[in-house]
Amino acid sequence: MKHTYQQARYDEPLLIEKGRPGRIGASLPPWDDNRDLSALLPAGMVREDLKLPEISEPEMIRHYVRLSQMNYGTDSGIYPLGSCTMKYNPKVNDRIASHPTLQRMHPLQPEDTVQGVLAMMYELQEALCEIGGMAGCTLQPAAGAAGEFTGLLIARKYHETRGDLKRDEVIVPDSAHGTNPASAVMAGFKIIEIKSAPDGSVDLNALKGALSERTAAFMITNPSTLGIFEKNICEVQQACHDAGALLYYDGANLNALMGKARPGDMGFDIMHYNLHKTFSTPHGGGGPGSGPVAVSCDLVKYLPVPMVVKEGKTFRLDYDRPDSIGKVKGLYGNIGVLVRAWAFVKVLGGTGLKRASELAVLNASYIRSRIESVYPVPFTAPTKHEFVASADFLKEKGGSAKDVAKMLAERGLHPPTNYFPMIVSEALMIEPTESETMEELDLFSDALLDIAKRSAEEYKLAPRTTTVSRVDEIGAAKNLILNWNQFPKEQ
Ligand SMILES: Cc1ncc(COP(=O)(O)O)c(C=O)c1O
Repeated sequence: MKHTYQQARYDEPLLIEKGRPGRIGASLPPWDDNRDLSALLPAGMVREDLKLPEISEPEMIRHYVRLSQMNYGTDSGIYPLGSCTMKYNPKVNDRIASHPTLQRMHPLQPEDTVQGVLAMMYELQEALCEIGGMAGCTLQPAAGAAGEFTGLLIARKYHETRGDLKRDEVIVPDSAHGTNPASAVMAGFKIIEIKSAPDGSVDLNALKGALSERTAAFMITNPSTLGIFEKNICEVQQACHDAGALLYYDGANLNALMGKARPGDMGFDIMHYNLHKTFSTPHGGGGPGSGPVAVSCDLVKYLPVPMVVKEGKTFRLDYDRPDSIGKVKGLYGNIGVLVRAWAFVKVLGGTGLKRASELAVLNASYIRSRIESVYPVPFTAPTKHEFVASADFLKEKGGSAKDVAKMLAERGLHPPTNYFPMIVSEALMIEPTESETMEELDLFSDALLDIAKRSAEEYKLAPRTTTVSRVDEIGAAKNLILNWNQFPKEQ
């Protein structure tokens, strides 16, 4: 039998024996070396001759090892990128996600052949609802920002369904992550930004002044991007609901709260989770990630289709949801990420997740206590999973937060987030996560303390040990080269 492109792509996985998920292969047609697939490719894209490079195994291994060593990841060392929660990705997650049954699964297989995956997704939905104190959850959105967008579409649908058509504004505090206003604009809202109170919390008067019959939602991150728990959350909740607005929880900082406090119990109506942060799954350079959205009871009917539902002992994808906002991602969502997050929850259990949050807070507080006398922390409330220190004092000798980052990179340590949130001058936003040992926390703190003593001349030379040294950022911004053809010949 000749394969066609269509068959190779869609039919093969469907040949799984019914009721025996994962048993692929037995009924596949034999591989045909002589088949001609070239006719399926556009003319001009078929190679006339095939010259593969002739290299030895050691040469190839060395090439790839060298490339991998140019990279820095959570397997290399501390990765204290505040707000991004770059925690170690346990290898057991990868082992489970690379199981042949999952690897060979196809998203268009009949539901009765993918019961295991649907069960896993269902369990993850349930676990996330439990952790967040929410009533229903979708696993589809592909990142935190995609979750925000989905959540805001739900908010819009909620108001529209009630005939409350004036609500076209979303309020965000000035410490918000940039994706919050961006997602709100994409969902069709206008942004009202409010200033934070001097201690970094939500300014209740400013919030009450901004709330009106036009407010659709107030979006906040708790703990905030300053790593501070919102002490007025009950009043914030009351004010928003009194004004008929919904309360949106940006779950990027959930790593501080798991098992300790739940957004649902604080009165939040909609939240997203960044699985690629809190639940130890890879970030993959900004994606693919996963940003499930959970909602309170009244909003469950608006969640995207399909939902994974359980009927007796069977799981299925439910598309029959007339009030749903529709589909926000193809097929199952980022299944490779979902499986890893599920594994993390299963391995740690409730007690382990709670312990992870406790350690994340402890580790951040420890680094703060080690460096605060040198790098001031302008917002002084107790630290949760992260804190924001300032390198402003370095300006006097010609240094900056950027120089601290470059010096850290020179020492083989990943820098913290810099220049965010913007309400702290020369911000260094430090989030070590629960994964680091005391030795690693000390190594990082010692490096920061030592860097503060260095001269401006030394700063400008760093980083000298990295694959790419200090780049001409202004030159790069002013003279954009967007096509490899434009590179000067000598490069
Ligand atoms: C506070 C906060 N909100 C939202 C996001 C957006 O999440 P994602 O990168 O998953 O789109 C981030 C990302 O770092 C964040 O820190």
